[in-house]
Amino acid sequence: PPDLVYPDVAFTFSEKIDKRKMRKVAADALKELFDAAKQDGVFLAGVSGYRSESRQTTLYNNYVDRDGVKAADTYSARPGHSEHQTGLSIDVSGTDGKCAAESCFAGTKEAKWLADHAYEYGFIIRYPEGKESITGYKYEPWHIRYVGKDIAEDVTKKDITLEQYFGSAVPVSK
Ligand code: DAL
Ligand code: ZN
Repeated sequence: PPDLVYPDVAFTFSEKIDKRKMRKVAADALKELFDAAKQDGVFLAGVSGYRSESRQTTLYNNYVDRDGVKAADTYSARPGHSEHQTGLSIDVSGTDGKCAAESCFAGTKEAKWLADHAYEYGFIIRYPEGKESITGYKYEPWHIRYVGKDIAEDVTKKDITLEQYFGSAVPVSK
């Protein structure tokens, strides 16, 4: 992406590194999102934003080594296929970093707030619960994707995935 910037929001780490970056439009929306959450007493932090292809390759290969290809493919995108490479997606947790990008994030007040309000700022929960056969990935309540306010509202209120929104829902598993 040509316009990666550092979003002016809290992160679970202090280094100024790639995974702190997002594209400008998403970074600005993320600040609005986190500010609004704060108003509601919910303190969010970024965990992992932009990734280069080489970074995604390393992550994916590590997961394959640990869990095997079949399992890794249910939760980690192959290099060249991760939304993190677009700079429009970010993994989010509470500022304590507990359950960051882990299944125990589901059901937290941070997850609930994101599910209720992300669309108001142009983000969707990209890999919803129960939609695994459409998205191809396990439920990730922490992974939000910037799509702009109009599409985010439509996708969220219709309770559909981005695949369904674009009319190309191809089940990836039986
Ligand atoms: N965890 C998501 C699917 C990714 O690797 O981009
Ligand atoms: Zn993610």
